[in-house]
Amino acid sequence: MRTVDPAYKLSSTQRCLVKDLLNRQTLLVASWIIIEYCIKNCLLLEHSLQKKYIMADISSNFLGIKSPNPFWLASAPPTDKKINVLRAFESGWGGVVWKTLGSQVKNVSSRYSAVDYGGHRVMGFNNIELISDRPLEINLKEIAECVRLFPDRAMIVSLMADNDRKSWQDIIKKVEDTGAHGLELNFGCPHGMTERGMGAAVGQDPEIARMVVEWVMEAATLPVITKLTPNVHSVVPAGRAVVEAGTNALSLINTIQSVTGVDLNTLVPNPYVGGKSVFGGYCGPAVKPIALKFLTTIAQDPLTKKVPVSGIGGISTWKDAVEFMLLGASNVQVCTAAMKHGFRIVEDMCEGMNNWMDEKGFTKLEDFIGKSVANITHWEDLDINFHVIAKIDQDKCIHCGLCYIACEDTSHQSISLEPGNPYNTYTIKEEECVGCNLCKLMCPVTDCITMEEHRVAPGYINWKQWQAQGLPLNDH
Ligand SMILES: Cc1cc2nc3c(=O)[nH]c(=O)nc-3n(C[C@H](O)[C@H](O)[C@H](O)COP(=O)(O)O)c2cc1C
Ligand code: SF4
Ligand code: SF4
Repeated sequence: MRTVDPAYKLSSTQRCLVKDLLNRQTLLVASWIIIEYCIKNCLLLEHSLQKKYIMADISSNFLGIKSPNPFWLASAPPTDKKINVLRAFESGWGGVVWKTLGSQVKNVSSRYSAVDYGGHRVMGFNNIELISDRPLEINLKEIAECVRLFPDRAMIVSLMADNDRKSWQDIIKKVEDTGAHGLELNFGCPHGMTERGMGAAVGQDPEIARMVVEWVMEAATLPVITKLTPNVHSVVPAGRAVVEAGTNALSLINTIQSVTGVDLNTLVPNPYVGGKSVFGGYCGPAVKPIALKFLTTIAQDPLTKKVPVSGIGGISTWKDAVEFMLLGASNVQVCTAAMKHGFRIVEDMCEGMNNWMDEKGFTKLEDFIGKSVANITHWEDLDINFHVIAKIDQDKCIHCGLCYIACEDTSHQSISLEPGNPYNTYTIKEEECVGCNLCKLMCPVTDCITMEEHRVAPGYINWKQWQAQGLPLNDH
C-alpha cells in the first residue's frame, strides 16, 4: 500500500482549495462537453433542415438590373411618389416602375370603376387616370432619393414624352441623372394621352412605335423596356418593330379599353365625371388570360422572343406569377393586386414561389422561365386520338344536379339522371361523353368529377394527317 509522503500532506485549507479547483474543472469540462454536443447537433439539424427545406434562389437579373426577387410594382399610383415606393421596398418588392413621367397633365374626378363578380370585389378594375400629374422635378428628386436609400432594388422609370425626338431625348437625359436603372416606354395608355397622339396611339402603330424607339435608343445609356398595348389584334407587329429598332426588352400588357358598366339610376356609364364617362383601361384578375395569350405570342415569335419580357396583367398571387414566367416572362409586374390588398402581398408571393420551386427542384428562376411556351401549339397539331371521359365520384357527389343541367341543356346530353328519394343520382353515359370538361367546371365539389383518359386509338394523329388518310370528317 502506497503511503503519502508527509511532505505532501495537505492542510485542511489546502484540501478544500484542491477540492474546489477539481469541482470547478469538472464543471468546466462538463460545460464544454455540453456546448460541443449542442453545436454538433445544431449543425446536424441545420444540415438536415437545409436538405429538407432547400430555399431556391429567387433573385432576378433582368437586363443586368438586379433585384432580390422577380416582383416589381407596375407603373401606376402605387409607384407615383417616394412615400409609397419606400414603403413598397420596406415590404420587400424587388423593384418598381415609377409612374409614367411626361408632359404635364390635369386629371379628372372620379377616375376608377370596377366589375364585382360572384361576391368577388374588383374582379376587373378600370381607370381613366392619366400619367403623373406631379411636377417633373419633384419626381426626379424623389426617384434619386429612393435609389440612394434602396440601392439593391430595381428602379425603372416609365416615360411618355410628346411625339418628337427632342422631347424624348430631353426627358431621358434628366431621368438618367437620377441613378435609375432602366427606362420603360409607355406605348400603352388607352385613354386621355391617346387623343394627344401618345400612349396607345404610339403602340397601335408599329411604324410610329419603331420611330420613337429609334429616337430613344439614340439617347439612352440605360436598358430600355418597351411596354406594349393590348388594344390591338396582335401585339407581335408592334413588338417586332420595336425590337428591330433596338429596344432591350418588352413588357406587357398595359390596360385594355373598356366600359365596366352603366349606372341604372343615372344611365351614365362608370366612372362618372359630371354626367359623362369615357372608355377606361381595364386590368386586374379579369385580364390575366388575355395577358397570358399576348405574352405567349411574343414568347413564340422568332424575333420578339430574343428579348426578355416583363409580364403584367392580373397578377395577384405567386401562382399567377409562375404562370407568366412559365409562358416566357423573365419577371412580373403587379398593380391592381397591390391597390386592393396593399404592399404586404409580396411576402406571400416570394414565399409561395420559393416553396413551389423547392418542390419542383428548381434552384433558380431561369430553370423554369419559358418552360410552358412550347406546350401551346397550333390547333392542327393536336392529337385527335386523345380522348377523355368524365367520371363522377359518387362518394363525393352532393347531388346538386349542376353537371346534369349543364350537359343536358348546353352540351351533349351525356349524363343520366336516376330519380331517387331523397337524392337523384347522376352517372356519365360514357359512350356519349365527348370530354368537353363542362360538367367538371360546373361541379361545386373539388375532384368530384375527374376526366379520365380513354384514347380512341393508340397512335398520334393530327388533323392534316387525318384528312390525308381520307378518314371521316365529322364526329357524328
Ligand atoms: C390607376 C392606374 C393607373 C395606371 N397608370 C399607368 C401609368 O401611368 N403608366 C403605365 O405604363 N401603366 C399604368 N397603368 C397600368 C399598369 O401599369 C398595368 O399595366 C395594368 O394595370 C395591368 O396590371 P394589373 O392587372 O396588375 O393591374 C395604370 C393602371 C392603373 C390601375
Ligand atoms: S364532359 Fe361534357 S359531354 Fe361529357 S358528361 Fe361532362 S358535360 Fe357532358
Ligand atoms: S355537379 Fe358534382 S356534386 Fe353536383 S350532381 Fe354533379 S357530380 Fe354531383
